This record gives sequence, structure tokens and C-alpha cells, in this order.
Amino acid sequence: MLRAVLYAVFLLGALPSLATDSRGHISVVLLGATGDLAKKYLWEGLFHLYLDQVSSGHSFTFHGAALTAHEPGQKLMFEVLKKLACPTHVSSDRCAVVKDQFLKLSQYHQLKTSENYTALNREIETLLRQEGLKEAGRIFYFSVPPFAYAEIARHINSSCRPPQGAWLRVVLEKPFGHDHKSAQQLAMELMTFFREEEMYRVDHYLGKQAVAHILPFRDQNRQFLDPIWNRHHVERVEIVLKETLDAKGRTSFYEQYGVIRDVLQNHLTEVLMYLTMELPANISSSEQVLQRKLQTFKSLQRLGSSNVVLGQYQAYASQVREELEKAQDYAVTTPTFAGVLIQLDSLRWEGVPFLLTSGKALDERVGYVRVLFKNQAYCVQRETLREAGRSPCEAKQIIFYIGHGELDHPAVLVSRNLFKPIMPAGSWKEVVDLPQLRLFGHPLSDYYVYSPVTERETYSVLISSIFHGRKDSFITTENLLASWEFWTPLLESLTQHIPRLYPGGLENQHLLDFEMVGRELAFTLEEPVELLHADGQMPGDYRTIQAKFRQSPLVSAWPEELIAQLASDMEVAAASAVARAGEFHVALSGGSSPVILFQRLAMHHYGFPWRHTHLWLVDERCVPLADPESNFGSLHKHLLHHVRVPYLNIHPMPVHLNRRLCVEEDRGPELYAKEIAALVTNASLDFVLLGLGYDGHTASLFPQSSSGLEGAELVVFTESPVKPHQRMSLSLPLINKARQVAVLVMGKGKHEITTQISRVGQEPRKWPISGVNPSSGQLVWYMDYEALLG
Ligand SMILES: *[C@@H]1O[C@H](CO)[C@@H](O)[C@H](O)[C@H]1NC(C)=O
Ligand SMILES: *[C@@H]1O[C@H](CO)[C@@H](O)[C@H](O)[C@H]1NC(C)=O
Ligand SMILES: *[C@@H]1O[C@H](CO)[C@@H](O)[C@H](O)[C@H]1NC(C)=O
Ligand SMILES: *[C@@H]1O[C@H](CO)[C@@H](O)[C@H](O)[C@H]1NC(C)=O
Repeated sequence: MLRAVLYAVFLLGALPSLATDSRGHISVVLLGATGDLAKKYLWEGLFHLYLDQVSSGHSFTFHGAALTAHEPGQKLMFEVLKKLACPTHVSSDRCAVVKDQFLKLSQYHQLKTSENYTALNREIETLLRQEGLKEAGRIFYFSVPPFAYAEIARHINSSCRPPQGAWLRVVLEKPFGHDHKSAQQLAMELMTFFREEEMYRVDHYLGKQAVAHILPFRDQNRQFLDPIWNRHHVERVEIVLKETLDAKGRTSFYEQYGVIRDVLQNHLTEVLMYLTMELPANISSSEQVLQRKLQTFKSLQRLGSSNVVLGQYQAYASQVREELEKAQDYAVTTPTFAGVLIQLDSLRWEGVPFLLTSGKALDERVGYVRVLFKNQAYCVQRETLREAGRSPCEAKQIIFYIGHGELDHPAVLVSRNLFKPIMPAGSWKEVVDLPQLRLFGHPLSDYYVYSPVTERETYSVLISSIFHGRKDSFITTENLLASWEFWTPLLESLTQHIPRLYPGGLENQHLLDFEMVGRELAFTLEEPVELLHADGQMPGDYRTIQAKFRQSPLVSAWPEELIAQLASDMEVAAASAVARAGEFHVALSGGSSPVILFQRLAMHHYGFPWRHTHLWLVDERCVPLADPESNFGSLHKHLLHHVRVPYLNIHPMPVHLNRRLCVEEDRGPELYAKEIAALVTNASLDFVLLGLGYDGHTASLFPQSSSGLEGAELVVFTESPVKPHQRMSLSLPLINKARQVAVLVMGKGKHEITTQISRVGQEPRKWPISGVNPSSGQLVWYMDYEALLG
């Protein structure tokens, strides 16, 4: 039948003679040919490919495939094909002729069993032989759910590979897993059937014209952007995809993913990469772009739940219960709205907030990237005399308008007071009759506005790239896994997070507005429901309890208040030491409670005399200092990174000497003791921050320790019962010389040991903490209610 079809096409005279000067035949197999994506976009994309390539010298056949039997499947598929339309620039006569050819070159196949795949392969081979065609390649487009991938991949690999000399391209649609582990499993599986260069993972956002132009824009405007594309000039960047639709009818998919997996992990992250990566020398080189992208992934700061706000539209829960047939009390916590604050550890972007936002059931459908620059000018001339929109004192922004919204077209906008961008003349044109619109606080006339010369459907762009073997707008395995590696810890930390409910559409009003509070994100408005304090046992107010514990002052409060109190007590101690002696010597412990303290100090104590502070370690694990297990590593990451302590005032413990860790002969403890003696008057530290272990240990002084509990040594090696076993620690005698010692104890888990040591005497062999007893200084206990009261 196909043979007859091809002849029919030849007779029309629209195709060049395929048998002789053909550049080769291409078979396109669309799996899931009658599914939603195929109906809405893919057939159209394939048709446009054919329109573009009809006189390129290639010949084509299109094979729609699905599980449905031949007759009904064919009927369904041709209903879709009959409705295909041409882009507006194609004349209707030409459109009719080419469409007719396209229909004749398209066939439906049932692809269910391995016999069906073998039969398809045989058909392709037979056709090529009969027509005397050379095979150029085969495209298999997977528009099927991911659970079907492996099975299909196996069949293609075993019976549908083209012969030597022809290429194979398989195109995969998201989701590519739902966390790092599952993405890795799926990737490993696919890699047993296909080579990396054969796989094209689609992120359809990369086919959007405004997104695809970010890198070329940065490249072509290097002369303008070089000085300003950095933390000194960029105030913030917003990457936004808002939808008005909700998840109705798709909740079985959506429940497993939610907005972060559905939109942020892939589309918005890719956009973030295009904006932040260091530009490679050649942006057309996919390898160079990928390499720069992977470097940028490494510089993303790890996200925690405080960097996120989550919402869920109100009708979602009932839609889920109905569609998934769940009981009324089935809890639905999947977010349908998210705002995420991302920061980078790089010289270029440190401190610049990148806000990624997406949601369903919002007030408008729009996608954009907005780069807002800091306003560093002061205009002396009075405002009414300035030329509107041109003054350096007005907002400076660059906007990549991805689509929909008020503008309703892809566009690139650059504030006129920034620069007139260089745009590729063939593909982007300056828009001159601007509509009367305000965007981002300004009338359109304040911007240079560019739009594509021809607007192209996303899938047409992507399918054309696949045909040309251009891999740069697809997601490689490494890229995919790097993205999941970044998002997975956050997703795991959010499983208990209850999203804020929102009514949907215009009714949301300001309910979802959020703002940056330091390095964190919070909704601007309070949630309009009463939050109840269920447990009447705990003190409900925020006054801290002042009392005694083991004869020393005790400060007890809810964790946040407790940390605030400790941070402010530390600042007072620092200020008085600096006033007295010109410097403040503080020794800090590792562990998780101090991390919160460090964050508090970095974010709230701008008056802290860091410039005159010397930082010492209370204890250290015998691992390299850059190891994540290292106490110094944690101190560096959570505190040093954010404050300005002179390098010479930072004193990590010398656990790593002569390229080995904690060896007696290297005399690390002695070295550290000498350093303390040299810099700290009478070896009396101004402030020592300690913790308390479940077994009563403090610093790295464990029960029954053979050193450090008494004697003359200031610094000692010790053995921990848990890994890493080897430690270095300040000794009790040194700690007891300090002017001020704070013991920070937090969490329910510590209640038992707190109770125990509240009753014991001074028995440092059994409970090292009980030996903390400054000879002339002051000891203060800082305990949260859970540690104190259980
Ligand atoms: C697909 O394979 C099955 C089993 O081998 C066979 O019964 C069916 O007819 C095949 N479908 C087509 C359209 O050939
Ligand atoms: C892929 O196909 C090749 C050639 O037919 C075969 O040797 C190989 O085992 C297949 N791979 C897998 C994982 O089945
Ligand atoms: C940039 O990379 C593309 C794709 O690899 C290559 O064709 C082109 O020659 C390169 N340009 C330069 C200047 O190296
Ligand atoms: C250091 O110790 C000596 C002797 O114990 C004492 O006299 C002196 O006051 C101490 N200095 C400071 C600054 O505490």
C-alpha cells in the first residue's frame, strides 16, 4: 500500500525524484499517536517539519503507533490528521497539496507485541528496498507514560534499529522520574538500550522562542552586559510561569508530582541556567553549554523549607478525592503553587535573589523572566523636567516575555535607559506600533521591544531541531540528574509541609504574595485563619523563663526565642570584650543547633564586631577541613561565608598535618594550644559555646575519656564512640578558664540527659558536662522547652 502511496505522491510532482539524488529516507514513528500531546501539538509539529523539508531532498514516512487495534486506531489518528493546519505564511493552495501528501505518507500501526515491532521494521526495510531508497535515519517519538518506556525501548533496540550508516533518534517526554533516585534508575535503564547521543529529552520550554533567545541575547550583547550582568548591578531576577487552568482531570498525574516537579525542577530551572551560567566561548557548541550548565548547578545553594512558600487551590482536594476515589478524610498536601528563593555561591551572583514562581488556578496565564537592575543613579534635575522613560533614575529591566499574558506574544524588552540591544535581524524585529500597555511598572514606550519575525509553535521548533540533530535544546542525562540532585533534598523536606489554601483566579487577591525576609521567603499576608496553640502545658507567651540549672543561670524558651537570646548575649559579650581588650575570642562547637545560631548571627546581628573577633574551634573531627563532616566546614558554610572575619582571625583545629589526619607525632593539639597561648591572654577565652550529647559528653570529651577531663593539657586527641571516631578537643581545664561558657541544648531527644544531669554532682568521668565549671567565669545554660520539659 505504501508503495502505491509513494507513487501517487511522485505523480503530483511535488517531490524530487527520490530514487536517484535522494539525501535519504527518514521514518518517523510517533508512539502514542492518538494521545493528548500528539493531538494537540506533535502531529502539527511533524506536519510543519514535512512542510519545511518537502523539497530538501529527503523523503519521509510517518508512522503513528499506539496499543489500539488497527481499525479503530487508524480512524482516531486520521481524524486528527485531517484537522492539521499550516502556519499563516503558507498559501492555502500549497497547504492543501502538501497536506494531501502528508496524509498519504502517514500510516497507523498497532505496536503492542514484539511481532508488531518486527513487522514495522520489515515494512520500513521493504519500502526502502522497493523504492531503491537509502536510509538516512529513524525518529521514535515517545509520547507515552514513563512506565511504558523500558518495554518500548527494548523492542526498538532489539528489532527497530536502522542499519549501519543511518541514525536513530529517540525522543522522550517528561516526567523523567520524580526524584533523583527514580530519575537515575530510568536513565540507567534507557542507557542500556540507547546511546546518549541517540536520546532527545524534551523540555518544551527550551523550544519557546524567548527562552531559546536568552543565550544568544547574552552572547550578542556581551559589550553591554559584561559590566552589569552580576551581583553589583542585578537587584533580583524573577522567573515566572502562571497558569489559570487547574489540575482537574489530571489529578492522578498531578498528585504524584505537584508544581515543583511539574514546572520548577525542569522548565524554570533550565531558564535559571541560561540566565546564570558563565557564557561559553561558543554558545552553539552543545558540549560547551552543557559543561557551563553543570558548573552552575554546582554553585546553587542548597534549598531548605524556609526558602519556599507553597499553596494549593481550594478545589484541588475535592478533585483529587473524586478522581482518585478517595475517602473524605484523605489528606491532600500536594502544592499547586510555589515560590522559591534560589541563591548562588558564585562571585558573579552571590547574594542576588532568583525568585522562581509557578502555580495553577492563578489570575492570569503568563510566562516571563524579569531581570531588575539596581538603581544606582541619583538625578539632581527635578522629576518633571526629566524625559520620561529615558532617565537613569528610572527602573532598568530586561524582560524575556515567554508568552500569553497582556502582551500575548513572545518578546524581548530592554528599558531604554539601559541600552539598545543587538538583535538578529532575520529572526527578531523591533516592534514599532506598541499597544497602550504598562508592563512591570512602565508604559511599553519606555522599552525597546522586539518580537520574533515569525512566531513558531514550540513543538515545531523542537521537532525541527531533532531532525537536524541539534542537541542543545534537549536535556542530557547529566543535566537531568544535576537538576534532580538540586531539588530532591527540598522535596524530601517538604513532605510534611501544609500548603496555604487559595480560592483560585482573581479571588486570590494578595493571598499568595510573598516576600524575602533575609535569606528566607514568607507570605506577605498572615493566613486568614486562627492558628491554635493546642497544647496548654507549655508556656504560651514568648517571655523566656529565667531560673537556675545546676546552680547556674538557665535561659529557657521556644527554640527561636532561645537562639535570639543567645545570639544577643553573644553580641553583648563580644562588644564588651572588644571595648576592654580590642578583641573577642570565641570558641564554637559543631552540630546542628549552632547552625541555627550562626544563621541568626549572620542575618540579624549587623553590629557584631566580626572584624575584631577571633574564631576558635571547641572540637573537630579527624576529617579534612573541607569535608561535610568537619565542624570547620559547617562553620565556614553557615557563618564565615556570610560575615567579614579577617582571615588571620580564623583558627581551624590542625587535624590535617603532613598530609595525614590526627597522628600523634604530628602534635596537632600542641600546635593549637601554642596558638591559643600566643594570642589569648592567660588562655582565657572570652566565650565558649558548648553542646550536650545524649551520653553527657560536651565538646569532644566523652565519658571515661583518657584525656582532657583533667590535667594540664589545653588541647587533646579523644576517641568518640560514634564515627568519625578520632577527634580533637579543647580540654575541660581550658574551657574552665573561659570568661563565659554557654551550653546550648535543644530538642525533645535531649530531655532524658538533661533530667539526669540536673541531679548529679561533679562527675566528669561519667558525665563530662558536669565538669564544666568556670573557675572565675560565668556558665549559662540555654535550653529550649522540649529539652527542659520534654
Ligand atoms: C500485533 O501482534 C499481535 C500478536 O503477535 C497480533 O495478533 C496482531 O495482529 C498484531 N497487530 C497488527 C496490526 O499486526
Ligand atoms: C540492544 O540490542 C543489541 C543488538 O540487538 C543487543 O546486543 C543488546 O543486548 C540489546 N540491549 C539490551 C539491554 O537488551
Ligand atoms: C561553534 O560550535 C558549532 C557547533 O559545534 C560549530 O559548528 C562552530 O564551528 C563553532 N564555532 C566556532 C567559532 O568555533
Ligand atoms: C592573667 O593571669 C595573671 C596571673 O594569674 C593575673 O594576675 C592577671 O590579672 C591575668 N590577666 C588577665 C587579663 O586576666
